[in-house]
Formats: sequence, C-alpha cells, structure tokens
Amino acid sequence: MTYPERVKTDRVERSPSRFSMSTETVKRAYRRWANVYDVGFGSISRFARLGAVKAVNGLPGSEVLEVGVGTGLALPYYNESKFVTGIDLSTDMLAHARKRVQTCGCKNVRNLLEMNAENTSFDNASFDIAVAMFVASVVPHPRQLLQELKRIVKPGGYILFVNHFLAEKGVRRDIEYAMAHASHLLGWHPDFAMETLLPPEDIERAYIRAMFPMGLFTLVTLENCPR
Ligand SMILES: C[S@@+](CC[C@H](N)C(=O)[O-])C[C@H]1O[C@@H](n2cnc3c(N)ncnc32)[C@H](O)[C@@H]1O
Repeated sequence: MTYPERVKTDRVERSPSRFSMSTETVKRAYRRWANVYDVGFGSISRFARLGAVKAVNGLPGSEVLEVGVGTGLALPYYNESKFVTGIDLSTDMLAHARKRVQTCGCKNVRNLLEMNAENTSFDNASFDIAVAMFVASVVPHPRQLLQELKRIVKPGGYILFVNHFLAEKGVRRDIEYAMAHASHLLGWHPDFAMETLLPPEDIERAYIRAMFPMGLFTLVTLENCPR
C-alpha cells in the first residue's frame, strides 16, 4: 500500500479564499473567540456538529481523530466505542476542551494535543476515522489538510468534513463574497468553495449531505483511498 507523501508546509497552493489566513492569524482569531465561541458560532452550528458525530458513530472502526477540536463541543456525543484524539492549533480553544472533558467525564477521549492538522506527528494509518468540523475553511492550505488526513487515516477508513461552503449562485453567494472581507475577524472564510478542499474525483465519489439550518452547512463523507 502506498501512502501520500507528507506535504511540506511551504508548498505553493491555490489560496482557499481571496482572504487567506496564516496559522498565526488563526491562533490570534481563536484567542479572541475562545471565551464566547460556544454561545456564538457554537450554537448556530450545533445541529450540523451533532449530525457529523452521529455519522462518525455509525461508521466502523474505533480510533477517531477530531481535527480542530476547538472547545470540544462534540466530545460528549461520541459513542463509548469510539476513542477520540483531538488536535487544535489554539491553546486557548484547547483549554476549554480540556475543562469540558473533566466536567463531562468523557473517558473515551484519549488525548487533546496542540498540533497543526496540516502537518501532524502521527504515523501513517493511525486512525480509522478523521472528522473536521468547521475547520477546512479556516486552515491556510485545505488541500494539504486533505493530503495529511489521507496519510494518517487507514486505507478504507473515513474522512468527514462538515463545513459551510460557498453557494453556487444567487444572493447567498453575493453575501458570502461580501462577508469574506471580514475573514480575519470571523476566523473562517465565507467564500470557501468545496473545490478548494476536494479535487473533482473526490467530490464525485463523496457522500454529500446538506445539513440544518437551510443547508447552510454540508456534511462530506469520503472513504479513504490514498493515492
Ligand atoms: C470554527 S472552529 C471549529 C471548532 C470545532 N471543530 C467545532 O465544531 O466547534 C475552528 C477550529 O480549527 C482550529 N484550527 C484552525 N486551523 C488549524 C490547523 N491548521 N490545525 C489544527 N487546528 C486548526 C482553530 O484553532 C479552531 O479551534
């Protein structure tokens, strides 16, 4: 079995949005957001997050990587048969996740680590499932994230993304383009298109489902076929 090579972080790549953020900008943004995240974006995204965890719980395999675990909002909802490792760039978001694990007594959370999801220290094929909730439109190099997840998830395992993606047309698309000017404050890219994350062949074979509210978020499930 051949695995995709670890991709160097200085790789030149198409920008995820017209307003791409560096890892330092991401850390700064989430330092500001950490204390208010759960009541702000955390609540709007609740149904899509729970939908993604339900999808993970229904898949085979026990070793789960939650990418960009944030304040750990999803952690209490994994089945006991899933053992979860969470990673995030933000010390401040992780501090909230660690408190949550203590208060919820989530015994199936193996570890919460400060780590860049685009370039992790995990061995090839370490996980059965990787799930990235509202993270793909935040990382500086989404394709690099995808490659890294393909490397650390077992062949035949699953990679899930739940995210907001740029609307294909209409007023919503215009609004998303206008909002993209505030990406640095928001901490994500409203003008993030699915094609920026997934090559056409992955979009073709993925299971793609619109999520509540009003299809604002999309759940993408991809079986891992490393190339
Ligand atoms: C919008 S929040 C989502 C948090 C959580 N997944 C949820 O469902 O609420 C995005 C998170 O991704 C993290 N993040 C952004 N870029 C990252 C990277 N390259 N590696 C790891 N985490 C990253 C941020 O620090 C932040 O906690």
